[in-house]
Amino acid sequence: MKSWNPESVQNVLGRTKYIDDLPEPAGLLHGQPVVSKSAHGRMLSLDASAALALHPSVRVLTARDIPGENELGTAVPDEPLLVADEWTYRGQSLALVLAETRSLARRAVALVKVEGEELPVITDPREAHAKGMIILSPRTMRMGDPEAAFKRCAVVVSGRVDSGGQEHVYLETQGATAQVRDGGGIFVLSGTQSPTGVQEAVARNLGLPMNAVEVDAPRLGGAFGGKEDQAASWSALAALGAFVTGRPVKIYLNRKDDLTFTGKRHPYSSDYKLGLDAEGRILAFEVDYYQNSGACTDLSPAILSRTLFHAASAYRIPNLRATGYMCRTNLPPFTAFRGFGAPQGIFVMEAALHKAAEAMGVDPVDLQRKNLLRTGDTFHYGMPVAEARTELCVDRALARSGWDRRRAEIDEFNRSRRDRKRGMAALPLCFGISFTKLMMNQGGALVHVYRDGSVGVHTGAVEMGQGVNRKIQKVAALALGVPESRVRIERTRTATVANTSPTAASTGTDLNGMAALAACEEIAKRLSAFRQDAGLGDAPWETLVAKAHEARIDLSAHGFYATPGLFYDGSAERGSPFAYHVYGCAVITAEVDVVRGTYRIDSATLVHDAGNVIDEVVDRGQIEGALAQGLGWALLEDLRYDRTGKLLSDTLSTYKLPDAHFLDFPVDLEFLGNAPNPRAVLKSKAIGEPPLMYGIAGYFAVLDALKAARGDRLRAPGFHDLPLTPEKALDYLTGVIP
Ligand code: MTE
Ligand code: HPA
Ligand code: MOS
Repeated sequence: MKSWNPESVQNVLGRTKYIDDLPEPAGLLHGQPVVSKSAHGRMLSLDASAALALHPSVRVLTARDIPGENELGTAVPDEPLLVADEWTYRGQSLALVLAETRSLARRAVALVKVEGEELPVITDPREAHAKGMIILSPRTMRMGDPEAAFKRCAVVVSGRVDSGGQEHVYLETQGATAQVRDGGGIFVLSGTQSPTGVQEAVARNLGLPMNAVEVDAPRLGGAFGGKEDQAASWSALAALGAFVTGRPVKIYLNRKDDLTFTGKRHPYSSDYKLGLDAEGRILAFEVDYYQNSGACTDLSPAILSRTLFHAASAYRIPNLRATGYMCRTNLPPFTAFRGFGAPQGIFVMEAALHKAAEAMGVDPVDLQRKNLLRTGDTFHYGMPVAEARTELCVDRALARSGWDRRRAEIDEFNRSRRDRKRGMAALPLCFGISFTKLMMNQGGALVHVYRDGSVGVHTGAVEMGQGVNRKIQKVAALALGVPESRVRIERTRTATVANTSPTAASTGTDLNGMAALAACEEIAKRLSAFRQDAGLGDAPWETLVAKAHEARIDLSAHGFYATPGLFYDGSAERGSPFAYHVYGCAVITAEVDVVRGTYRIDSATLVHDAGNVIDEVVDRGQIEGALAQGLGWALLEDLRYDRTGKLLSDTLSTYKLPDAHFLDFPVDLEFLGNAPNPRAVLKSKAIGEPPLMYGIAGYFAVLDALKAARGDRLRAPGFHDLPLTPEKALDYLTGVIP
């Protein structure tokens, strides 16, 4: 029997058909939004006459054409599908132009005249905060009594930490195709991580029940969080176009439009205060996060909660206060990005610890090691620390990297060279797994065993390159006792598995794999009972299935999974919001060219706790990819807006991504052995986001080298403003950064 070719092979061969590659349905119209040209203003008039005169196929839809609710916001209703009066960021959709070809649509857009009144623009989160431009109320988590504890500290340091945004740069830009079907229903082929979210948005905007909207999410050319919430608007606009015209409509953003119109990782600006005793044990930590939320609420509250949950990173901090402000600015709404607020929080904690190390004249790694969380400790949100493995990972990573020998070699190199300096840093990892919103922690599956013995598995999981299909294929094959090649993972569709959570929070396999497992086990149970009853002995799978079908046994099952044990009391900020934590440690070494400010990463040693690994190739790929993306955020990717809210880094020539040259260093990866995780499918652990944090070690490795250039690397003052671009490195080396 011909075995099914894993789709990843097809993907690597460049054979994946993304939505824009598919044959276009007859009568297709292309949609292109008319967007705001300034970051804040009020619309006075919109004149489409010149656009309409361009070609008979041109249509221009505005807010008045929306039959349902003109709203996309789920947490807060502050995001219209099409602006009716006030726009709040540059690149916000004001109208939708439809035309027979893409270039016609673009030409028509240029002919739409919008007049408006300009309003004041805020781009800085601290300024927004000072002016009371805050979304929801500030949120605070606390444990112990930091104020009292600071009085007992031998060392207290404080400072400001900034981290920049990050552009997703998924290979496939945002887009969707929509069609009217079956006399009134809408079918959307959507590039989304959240088919149900798109279904809900389309239904809401068109005034339809959800059962009139079917959303199909094929394999995505990457998403990284950028298509968790923000795919909805493009799908909903395409659906609006199809609904109004009755013709199929496709919207696909080109790269520049995608860069300028869509949201990215949240920039943060933070203030911290950290207190330690004379031995270097952390006694107290206070932090205020000013999250640049952008113009609409989007996922900012959930992202801020993940920041607050990760305020202490991997450390035991008995007295802690962490407060977060969602600051409303006139920039495109910032959104989910791998790590979902955790990297921002962890960077502040690490910066504080490095500052304390400077004040004490000790190596940061000594403070890191002294303060690691252990089993039996309590997180500041009241959850007991279970099966803590950070310390184990740190010990192994330091040993594996030959930390002491390396340190001596680096110090020797730095003594003998003036033009180049080397540095090294470690990053311990502790990352909570589960959606921070309790309700979202559920998954569904529908499994069919066809009567020839082949298997089709449907789940709510969207494949975006992360390998969730491969993992679920293995889970199903194991549960049914069939070769993997007999199992096909179907594309994700709302009519097959309903009410799904987005494939996000690294939980794709945890939730959907468990649901698939439940469905497979149900079918396996029926088959095994039938085997007994029918006296089939050890008849092969195909015979068993064929006979069972003959005997009218149901060969399909629905599976469902809801993560057990989760609870959270939002008013007390106490509970168990995570099913478990992922642990690990990175050691990264770097070398700086002191004359130019340029640098390279020399090596990465990673010890990562992935539980019982389901597929080593997938997990290795996720770890290496996340590390690359983390290094990009920490060092290179310089997202810039000017004071008028215009994106300056709006091409891939001005927005520097880690490239093959930058990433050409050895990654020595050890999966922590003997570490089964009882709280996820096949005792595995979620993999997608946690290793992104390792990139933070890259920041401190480069900083360590820069400090060596100033003389005493242990006492030279560092700076904590990420990304640490070569320009900033040069500013530091030349004293522009004091
Ligand atoms: N890997 C690839 N190749 N492409 C992606 O878009 N997204 C990341 C991560 N790894 C992503 C990826 C993000 S942000 C998340 S939350 C997870 O994959 C989602 O998939 P999972 O839950 O199945 O791990
Ligand atoms: N991660 C990703 N997406 C989410 C989360 C989360 O924790 N909570 C709500 N949406
Ligand atoms: Mo990932 S940021 O949770 O899509």
